[in-house]
Amino acid sequence: MPLEFDIITLLPEMFDAVTQHGVTGRAKRNNLYHLHTWNPRNYVTNSYRTVDDAPYGGGPGMVMMAEPLDQAITDARMRQTRNGIDQTRVIYLSPQGKRLNHEKVLQISKLDGIILLCGRYEGIDERLIEDQVDEEISIGDYVISGGELAAMVLIDAVIRQLPGALGDVQSASQDSYVDHLLEYPHYTRPCIYKEKPVPEVLLSGNHAKIAHWRLQQSIGRTWLKRPDLLMEKYPGGLPGKEKELLEEFKQLQRLTITDQTTADTIKEREQ
Ligand SMILES: C[S@@+](CC[C@H](N)C(=O)[O-])C[C@H]1O[C@@H](n2cnc3c(N)ncnc32)[C@H](O)[C@@H]1O
Repeated sequence: MPLEFDIITLLPEMFDAVTQHGVTGRAKRNNLYHLHTWNPRNYVTNSYRTVDDAPYGGGPGMVMMAEPLDQAITDARMRQTRNGIDQTRVIYLSPQGKRLNHEKVLQISKLDGIILLCGRYEGIDERLIEDQVDEEISIGDYVISGGELAAMVLIDAVIRQLPGALGDVQSASQDSYVDHLLEYPHYTRPCIYKEKPVPEVLLSGNHAKIAHWRLQQSIGRTWLKRPDLLMEKYPGGLPGKEKELLEEFKQLQRLTITDQTTADTIKEREQ
């Protein structure tokens, strides 16, 4: 059954970027998901089709009014029900939400349908959030001008997890953050670029050796770039095999290191 996305947005045309291009465009054409937009402006009768008003208590900017959003969400819920979804989640993209991560993306990809609420201006009347929203999700600790880009980030990440969305079945399962590790580095032709050769093992044709090297690179890079992920995965310290791989990685880095930043990072990690 296709995953049903209903999006409440003042700028529905922005979602063409997702539905018409790349991996997400192909997944749409292959019917892996449906995406329907609801514009709150279609629920107002005033001649300027205004959906925002000044904040009570004063202050800068405007606030999205509850009523048009409420009606749009009600219609979106009805569409999901007609598509056989009895329990839909309403997610408000908000800088005040819980930060999006791989686990949350996986969790959403297993749902049958979701409604995404995109804010604009200074945000949304709090009473609408209290009444209709199940969860707030943020794409990071910064503020962007509207929820649409955040919704598109979430949709893209979720679609990558749908079976059949990626050409190569394995690619999503090897991506960074799966299993709390960053992915190993990639190389393609030419074999030597600006005097830098591709690591020899990748040319060996020995699949076991390549797998070993890639796991070692994954562990090593995670240790270098995101040690917090390793600590989450192994709170009691790395187990035997992984510890060995990491020691070997450090050794190799010391021998081959060419840039000062990595050298400094290694020093810092080892303190
Ligand atoms: C300009 S922002 C409002 C920010 C709000 N005044 C605040 O400081 O919390 C307008 C809309 O952009 C979206 N938005 C902004 N930053 C976001 C983030 N980091 N993650 C998800 N959505 C975000 C939300 O939908 C929000 O309602």
